[in-house]
Amino acid sequence: MSDLPEPTVVITAEQIAFYHREGYLAIDQITTIEEVAYLQNAYDRIFEQRVGHDVGDAFDLVGQDKDGQPPKLPQIVEPRNYAPEFRNTLYEANAMAIAKQLLGEGVIQRGSHAIFKPAHYGSHTPWHQDEAYWNPSKNYHSVSIWMPLQEATLENGCMQFIPKSHELDVLPHHKIGHDPKVIGLEVDEGHVDVSNAVACPIPTGGATFHGGRMLHYAGANKSELPRRAYILMFAVPLPPFEVPRNFYWQ
Ligand code: NI
Repeated sequence: MSDLPEPTVVITAEQIAFYHREGYLAIDQITTIEEVAYLQNAYDRIFEQRVGHDVGDAFDLVGQDKDGQPPKLPQIVEPRNYAPEFRNTLYEANAMAIAKQLLGEGVIQRGSHAIFKPAHYGSHTPWHQDEAYWNPSKNYHSVSIWMPLQEATLENGCMQFIPKSHELDVLPHHKIGHDPKVIGLEVDEGHVDVSNAVACPIPTGGATFHGGRMLHYAGANKSELPRRAYILMFAVPLPPFEVPRNFYWQ
């Protein structure tokens, strides 16, 4: 049983059509400013405490987690396991309701993660498709909902998309910086024409939406303040691939 509050946001038929045509959507409000402030507090606490590090739930997406070096793109998987504030949020209720609008009633929650870009030196997130990270034998119709816990701007690393790239297959990826010890992935050179990229700055309380094959990127954090993002994933499970795909980069 879920104890999610009643959803308060509905997207329009035009927004749904835009998402399916272009492969992404940005909205100005998925939760309240008050809830963002409440979550921001919990978020800063768990990153400061480095929760989940011992069990592999917290790591640097772009580095090797060497002791003594601050991570440039720290991530915490399932922050709700470390801070109760992340459970039963209005954000999640609205995210679930919108995921159903986009993908249909069969939608299930597929997890969450928090990606933190420290002020001044937070790394860019290289171009990638989320599906490149996933189990190559499983198949999903998915949507990832990306909510910053402050406004997201070009300067602090808002999301960027290549419109219509959701229609591509999963492209070849490699470990960020070609470093086999790094967890993060980036798409191979030559697959992204950045002149087509669309940046999506959004206000506090807003969110962006993208599917598993959508090419996306977020710039480095060049601002004076941290850039926090809290991502929820939803999907409609599809029959698995009879022959698992070869995601040799994993
Ligand atoms: Ni991603």
